[in-house]
Formats: sequence, structure tokens, C-alpha cells
Amino acid sequence: MKINIFKTAEEIGAAVAEIFTDTVKANPSCVLGLATGATPVPTYKNIIKTFNEGGISFKDVKTYNLDEYCNLPKNDKNSYYTFMHEQLFNGLDILEENVHFLDGNAADPEAECKAYDAEINAAGGIDVQLLGIGNNAHIGFNEPADTFTEGSFKVKLTESTINANKIYFDENPMPEYALTMGIKQIVSAKKVILIATGEKKAEAVRNMIEGPVTAQVPASVLQEHDDALIFLDEAAASLLTK
Ligand code: F6R
Repeated sequence: MKINIFKTAEEIGAAVAEIFTDTVKANPSCVLGLATGATPVPTYKNIIKTFNEGGISFKDVKTYNLDEYCNLPKNDKNSYYTFMHEQLFNGLDILEENVHFLDGNAADPEAECKAYDAEINAAGGIDVQLLGIGNNAHIGFNEPADTFTEGSFKVKLTESTINANKIYFDENPMPEYALTMGIKQIVSAKKVILIATGEKKAEAVRNMIEGPVTAQVPASVLQEHDDALIFLDEAAASLLTK
């Protein structure tokens, strides 16, 4: 794990966006793993800024998002499909057929998850995977558990995750289930970038970096990854002791 500490979330957004745009410039048909939530928003803003400056195309880039809520229409304002289009895809020349999501409304979630994993593998695996971290150290929607999960699966969200995300659901209640990529699938990415900002993440960050590798702290699995870059602002890094 390589830890990078910046003053602000904006500075992290610029630094991480540069890694993504350099990746696309070096390999225009790369495969990116993407995250939703508040954390990656400055990164997406900076990727669009670089795209608008010219000299880079996302036409051959494929993306796979980490997770999607169950029982929420694809075009609902709270779906991750909508989020990604509003925050990133609509600002790029990426092709709709190249952006991929787990279908949270699939009649057979197990078959949907298997097909998603198979598609990622057929695409050659993920070159760069972006992650945020939950207050309980979840990555994707892999909540604290007894064992590390493998491929994509349907998960019941914990109270901690529901409390953190329900602020976005003003009309309808927040879904209790989601489909998510599993931990082993996530760490099979060649490079993993995790961003954590704000003091609410400080405890999860300390446990991820300084605690033992355990499925009770899902993000701690990144300690064993060969190319994991962690980007923290000062608030998220505030409980680190080393
Ligand atoms: C989102 C995801 C989650 C979030 C995490 C942090 O696709 O997989 O693990 O990264 O819940 O969310 P924010 O960034 O909103 O604090």
C-alpha cells in the first residue's frame, strides 16, 4: 500500500484524475473499475476537465461499476447508473455500450452476478479500480463479514451503510439490498486506488492501514495488493499513528 496524504479533497481529485487520464492516454482501450458516492466526484470533475482540454478519447474505454441498488428503476435519480452518467459519462465521449453496471433489477441476481464477472474477465480484467471506503471500512458494498467474498453477489446493506446513504433518498426509502462486486474480484484489478476524505472515515482508514488483514475490515485486504494507492486528506489521515 502506498499512502498519499493531501490537504484537500480537491487536490486528491486532480491527482487521481491524472492517473486515470494518463492510463487512458497510454492505453485507449483500457478497462476501468468505477465507484459512486461523494468521494470520487472531484476526480470525475477533473477527468472531464482534462477531456475538454483535448487530446484524449474515451471511445474505446470500457468501464465496470462496483455496485448498484436492487429494486430501483435504472433511471431513478438515486440509481448509480444515473449518478455515473450525471457525474462522469455525459461529460465524455465514452460509448454507452462500453459502460457496464450490475442490473439490480435482474430476475435472477445470481445469474446476473456470474455474467457480470465473466464479462469483466472476458474484457481482460480491470486495469485501474477506483474505490471509496465506507465508515465501516466496506469497499464496494462488501460489508464487514467473517470471510472475504469472491465474485459479485447480492448483499443486504448494514445499518451503518443505510444511515450514511439514506440522506440521498428524500421521496422513496433507500433500498436495503444491492448487487456488488466481491472482494476477490475487486483486488484482482491490476491497480487499485482508494480515496478517503473527511474525519468520518478516519477510524476506517486507521483500521485499513494499521490493523490486521481481516474481513471484518474489508478494505484491509488492500494491504496485500501489489499496487494499491491510498489517497487521504488530512482529516481522514488524522488517526494514523505511524
Ligand atoms: C460506491 C461504493 C461505496 C462507497 C462508500 C463511500 O460505489 O462502492 O463503497 O465508495 O460507501 O461512499 P462516500 O464516497 O459517499 O462516502
